[in-house]
Formats: sequence, structure tokens, C-alpha cells
Amino acid sequence: MSSSESGAFAVPADLNALAPHIWPAGAARSTATGVVSVRGHDVRELARDFHTPAYVLDEVEFRDRIGQWKSAFAQATDGNADVYYAGKAFLCSAVVRWLDDEGINLDVCTAGELAVALRAGFEPHRILMHGNNKSTSELRQAVMAGVGLVVVDSFEEIARLAHIAGESDVVQSVLVRVTVGVEAHTHEFIATAHEDQKFGFSLSGGQALEAVRRIHKLPALELAGLHSHIGSQIFSTDGFEVAAHRLAEFLVQVRDVCGVELPLLDLGGGLGIAYTETDEPQAPQLIAQQLTAIVSAECARSGLAMPRILVEPGRAIAGPTTMTLYEVGTIKTVELDDGLSRTYVSVDGGMSDNIRPSLYDADYTCSLVSRSSTADPMLVRVVGKHCETGDVVVKQAWLPADLAPGDLLAVAATGAYGRSMASNYNHVPRPPVVAVSEDSARLIVRRETVEDILALDVD
Ligand code: LLP
Repeated sequence: MSSSESGAFAVPADLNALAPHIWPAGAARSTATGVVSVRGHDVRELARDFHTPAYVLDEVEFRDRIGQWKSAFAQATDGNADVYYAGKAFLCSAVVRWLDDEGINLDVCTAGELAVALRAGFEPHRILMHGNNKSTSELRQAVMAGVGLVVVDSFEEIARLAHIAGESDVVQSVLVRVTVGVEAHTHEFIATAHEDQKFGFSLSGGQALEAVRRIHKLPALELAGLHSHIGSQIFSTDGFEVAAHRLAEFLVQVRDVCGVELPLLDLGGGLGIAYTETDEPQAPQLIAQQLTAIVSAECARSGLAMPRILVEPGRAIAGPTTMTLYEVGTIKTVELDDGLSRTYVSVDGGMSDNIRPSLYDADYTCSLVSRSSTADPMLVRVVGKHCETGDVVVKQAWLPADLAPGDLLAVAATGAYGRSMASNYNHVPRPPVVAVSEDSARLIVRRETVEDILALDVD
């Protein structure tokens, strides 16, 4: 470890502390034993019962977060808003039921996600479907199921969807995905609203207006509004302000050309969460107030009635609720060229259960959770078990110097895009998701087995 690298990453005041804005709300370290539990479930027992690696999801917090986003927008807009959970962050039947129980809607982007929602009994009219290349079969499944809104993304799709809806004698409500030319301040590959990308119709080139014109003429499609998604892991509403300004200008154009004021304005998702100490997300109430004020001011300025606001948080609901539990397998210190050294802590998972560090250079926070320690801090890199140098779990972390094989480590804030982007790389089975509440610790996604993997191998 070079001195500048270690200098830039400050030693925490207390290695045993769990910063509440990063860790699941139900996670706590016992002052008596030093062991971390989630909603009262000791991590050693969770590891014994469900094995490692495992995603441990705080069900109480998941439900609370759904409720917070719902009530924040209901209050800010006087009930003139709908929250759609972005299922791509993490979806399974239990999550669908929680959405239903807490009363929010669902955004899906493939037939696979749609199938999960329908099998769990979610009302189709509360589902919105995205995708820049939905297949004819996916569009047909959506129309036949009675999905409430389809977000159209290309001219081909407008024609396909109109045909499918017409054949089925359905009038399908749609939103037009608009690229507003705002680049969110985040990783290049997850910033989705600058012009040079695959999603939506660009405003500046006149494509969006042409899309609206075409839909307006098609009796099988009902144009309900506009959709824009400006990126991911966003902390400030500045980008939304620019987007809302351009969307309002476009709504005026649509009114002038088609003679209709569109009732729905979907601002997408992308709201950030805390992965490390330096991340400072705003409370849902504040975001809801700010976004509502922005849309309201833009509409007032353009002489438009206030549309119903739709938002699609995924990460901000699922992300903070979950930590991944790993067991330490090996600890190795390697000498570096400059006389310094680096300690590698290998755990029993890695890039197959969390691809985000390798893919986006994402930072995470980890802690020794099966005990506390008073040993000195040591700066380590936590890595996985995959045959690849880039298989990093936490690029740099301070862990106690007495860390040993068999200790349990947890990585915080892995609830969004962890299990949902997991793979079988190196034929490693994907971990289970264990939902914990005060009453129970239960599987909501079971662990994959080698048999599952072999079952796909046609011999
Ligand atoms: N709505 C639309 C149209 C989206 O494309 C997305 C995310 C969301 C909502 C939800 O965004 P969220 O609130 O979760 O940020 N795999 C990347 C993130 C890709 C997000 C793609 N779209 C990651 O792990 O950071």
C-alpha cells in the first residue's frame, strides 16, 4: 500500500462502529458480546443456518423505505404522485408483496420481471414497463396482462405496440421516454440521459416531437405523458431541475402541436444512497419537496397545469436494507515494489455476488461482524474467490489486525444491483437472500446449487 493511498483513506475512530446511514437500520453490535445482529438475529446463527455468502435483508427497513417514499411524495404533491419501485434493483415475490402491502407500484423492464410480479399476484394496472428493445413477445405479454403503462422507447416499438394493442382490441396507455440532454454526475456507464446513448427519443433532434405526433394519431395508443431518467446514484436535484425545465418546454410544444396537455410526468429513478462515510443522501421528504417544487415552478412558468408526478426509485429503497455476509478464507500480505506491502483478505464470494466494484469501481464499507476487536487497524483489500485479479469486494478497508480465517465479514448497502446482477462466473452458485424481521429469518430467494447449474448443461 503506497503511503499516499493509505493517507487518503483515514483510519476510522472506532473500527467496531457501524455508521447508521450505511448499515441496515436493524443492524447493531452487542455491547456484551461484540457480535452484530440484524433485527436481533446473530450473524453467527444466520451463517450457521443459511451458510455464507448470503445477502441479509432487513425486511422492516425495506417496508419502511417503501412507506417513506410513498408518504413523502403523497405529502409533497397532495396525493398527485405515484411511486413505482424499480424492480431491476432487486425483485422477488416477497418484494412484490411488500410493495402491494405498502401500496406502491412497480416498474419492470423485461418479461422476466413482469412474470415475477404477475406470479406474486400484483395488479397489472399498477405496473409500468420499460426497455429500449422490448421484444414483440414482451410487448404482447404486457398488453395481454393489462400493464398500466408502457414506456415507449423507439419508432419501431410505437408501431409494434399499436399493432399488438389493436389486434387485442386494447387501448394501451403509454409514456414517451425522452432524452433531455442532462448528464448526471456519476459513472459514465450508468449515466443515461446524455444524448449519446441508447435510451429514448432525443428532444434536441425533434425525435421526441415526432414520436408524440405518431402516437397521437394511433387509436390503439393513448399518450399519457413523458418519461425521463437522468442517471444513477445522484445526490443533488440540480440535474432534475434542468430536466424538468426541458420537459416543461416540451409539454408546451406537445400542447401546441397536438392540442393536449399530458397528465403524467415521470422523472425516473436514480436517487443515491450511502455506500461509504462520505456519501450523504437526502431524506425522501426533502427530495419529494424539491422535485415537486421544481416541476410546479416549471409548469407555472409555462402556463401548464401541474401533471401527476411519477418517480421510480430502486436503489434508494432496496440498497441500504441489505448487507452481504461472507466468511474470511485466507489472509495474505504481499510485498510491493516500493518496500510497502498490501494485505489481501479473501472471502467466499466476490464478483459473482457483487459485480459493482469491478464494473463501476464502486466503493463499499465492510466490518468484522462475528466479534469485536481491540486490535490495531490494518489497511486491507477485500477480494473474492474468483479466478480474476479484478475480483475486488472492497478496494480498501480498515479491519482489525487480528482478523483470522473463519471470521465473518459483512459488506453494507448491497441490496440494490447485488443479487439482481449476480452471475454464475466460475460456476459459483448465487447466494440466497435472507429476510430478517423481529419475528423471523427466512429465505426469500434460496441459494443456487451446483445441481441448478448442472441442470442447464445439456449433455
Ligand atoms: N427508472 C429507469 C428508467 C431506470 O433505467 C433505472 C435504473 C431506475 C428507474 C432505477 O434507478 P435507481 O433508483 O435504482 O438508481 N446497475 C447500476 C445501475 C443501473 C441503473 C439502470 N437504471 C448500478 O449498479 O449502479
